[in-house]
Amino acid sequence: MDFEFTNEEKLVREMARDFAQNELKPMASEIDIEHKIPDSIMEKLKELGFFGVYIPEEFGGAGLDYISYIIVIEEIAKVCASTAVMLSVHNSLVSNGILMFGDDWQKKEFLPKLARGEKIGCFMLTEPEAGSDAASINTTCEDKGDYFLVNGNKIFATNGGFKGLGLLFATHDKSLRHKGMDAFILNLEEQGVELLRNEEKMGLRGSYTSAFALNDVKIPKANLLDGSGNGFKIAMELLNGGRISIAAQALGIAEGAFERALEYSKDRKQFGKPISSFQAIQFKLADMAMRIEAARLLTYRAAWLKNEHKNFIIESAMAKTYASETANYVAKEALQIFGGYGYITEYEIERYYRDAKITEIYEGTNEIQRIVISKNLLK
Ligand code: CAA
Repeated sequence: MDFEFTNEEKLVREMARDFAQNELKPMASEIDIEHKIPDSIMEKLKELGFFGVYIPEEFGGAGLDYISYIIVIEEIAKVCASTAVMLSVHNSLVSNGILMFGDDWQKKEFLPKLARGEKIGCFMLTEPEAGSDAASINTTCEDKGDYFLVNGNKIFATNGGFKGLGLLFATHDKSLRHKGMDAFILNLEEQGVELLRNEEKMGLRGSYTSAFALNDVKIPKANLLDGSGNGFKIAMELLNGGRISIAAQALGIAEGAFERALEYSKDRKQFGKPISSFQAIQFKLADMAMRIEAARLLTYRAAWLKNEHKNFIIESAMAKTYASETANYVAKEALQIFGGYGYITEYEIERYYRDAKITEIYEGTNEIQRIVISKNLLK
């Protein structure tokens, strides 16, 4: 058993940390307030290769492994969860979808654009009437010979505002439920794709969460991923991997909030001494650190299992659940340590508190994760 990162992974961490701490951290409040990741940050992410961390080099990526990718998400989420989720959905749900399920043409055509960050990946599964119950989607796809004709509505599509490449799920026969679902690669500038809005949110305010109407959208036959009827399986397998990435995001949020609270507790004086000298604060710091450590072990073990091509369904759901609950716990305790200052925007702790919440909800609520865990335990 080896708990050390490899030298390559340490280099990736150093590079991601250097960028996150020196360039992204000073922009994080502005990203939250302006609801946009500035072009300068997007360009830097391209230069660093973070849009294609584990895309093989032959398709224009950095060719690293899933653990390196998780390291990048963790380091970025420590300072800016909006940037982390943008990268997370792009890499683990969209690029990974084409890497895992695409044919040769699809890989050559789409992966280099995604790896270079020319196109940002957007995941289009959820609908107004189909959230946790993903098999009940209403968006239809009709085989018209040369193309598929798609009609429907999508919501909560992360990264939709970039109008890049969508990974779209639709049904060709609703009566078949999950067996009737197909997955497509969709150019979001295609005729009939209407971006209805980017939602106003409590947290992750620098990321796009978009709603789309799809009206008679023609998708070329070549863009069907892995044959008809496999859409649900594709969505589930991608979400298994994506959940490790959400765990890493939650871990980063917890660590970022913890580091700030730890420093603050040493600086802040009340009753003539730093508040860190009081046991009420020390107990909080110890509990926060313990939970973070447990979340880190679960997250990296799940990433390692995925890397080794072992079954990781239970472990990714556990990591996502535990890390997201840790992020919420730690952000709440960190804010409490800051007292009244935690509630005002200047100290940025309230942003961590707001950003943490969604990690318990998206890519499957934690109730869904518990169903995934128990279903697999009872198999
Ligand atoms: N991994 C692999 N396969 C899985 C799976 C998993 N985690 N979960 C189910 N399957 C397979 C089953 O083995 C079964 O296969 P067979 O047909 O071969 O037997 C098939 O899928 C159907 O399984 P179920 O009968 O269990 O399916 P269900 O309809 O009861 O749903 C569910 C199961 C776990 C609740 C699933 O619907 C689910 O995960 N829901 C949550 C969806 C989700 O996470 N949505 C968020 C999307 S992210 C987003 O929208 C925002 C964004 O951009 C980030």
